[in-house]
Amino acid sequence: MSANKLSVKIGVLTVSDRAYNGTYADRSGKAIVEVLQSYIASEWEAVYKIVPDEQGIIEKELVQMADASQCCLIFTTGGTGPAKRDVTVEATEKVCDKLLPGFGELMRKVSLASVPTAILSRQTAGIYHNSLIVNLPGKPAAIEECMSAVFPAIPYCIDLIDGPFIKTDEGQMKVFRPQSK
Ligand code: MTE
Repeated sequence: MSANKLSVKIGVLTVSDRAYNGTYADRSGKAIVEVLQSYIASEWEAVYKIVPDEQGIIEKELVQMADASQCCLIFTTGGTGPAKRDVTVEATEKVCDKLLPGFGELMRKVSLASVPTAILSRQTAGIYHNSLIVNLPGKPAAIEECMSAVFPAIPYCIDLIDGPFIKTDEGQMKVFRPQSK
């Protein structure tokens, strides 16, 4: 696929010391790619990376995915909780030009229906340059649950930041685009 400005590139950034050092396999990053494969009907490609729980490294990778790789959308997984090394949210907030707190609010609400510990996730979302960054928790079970809740609003959000038009398989993911901006 050509690397033109409007190609659909999506960043998948797994943030985990243990996945990074090989203690366990990255099931959550893989789950994000699988969910996207089922939702997206446009041609797209994943830009995938695993990084440790280090704020500076996470920030650098978010900027790299957005600016150099031209990802219009970036999902992170992991590092959203209260533990000392959970700093993905700090990195996201530091990098973003605008925050979209509704994403975190909705994901916590749907997650709470399955786990009381959903309130421990500080997950958020925001815009950095022409990219939408969305935090997901690190648990593989959280991935589809959170993505299915917020994805209906994502293609329109990307339209609003002058990104590529993302077409979905409506049988898998029905998105909402208001008639006029
Ligand atoms: N959300 C969903 N949907 N499913 C989960 O299992 N785990 C919670 C929460 N959100 C969970 C969830 C737990 S136990 C924690 S500690 C926080 O996400 C933060 O997880 P993270 O630090 O791996 O991002």
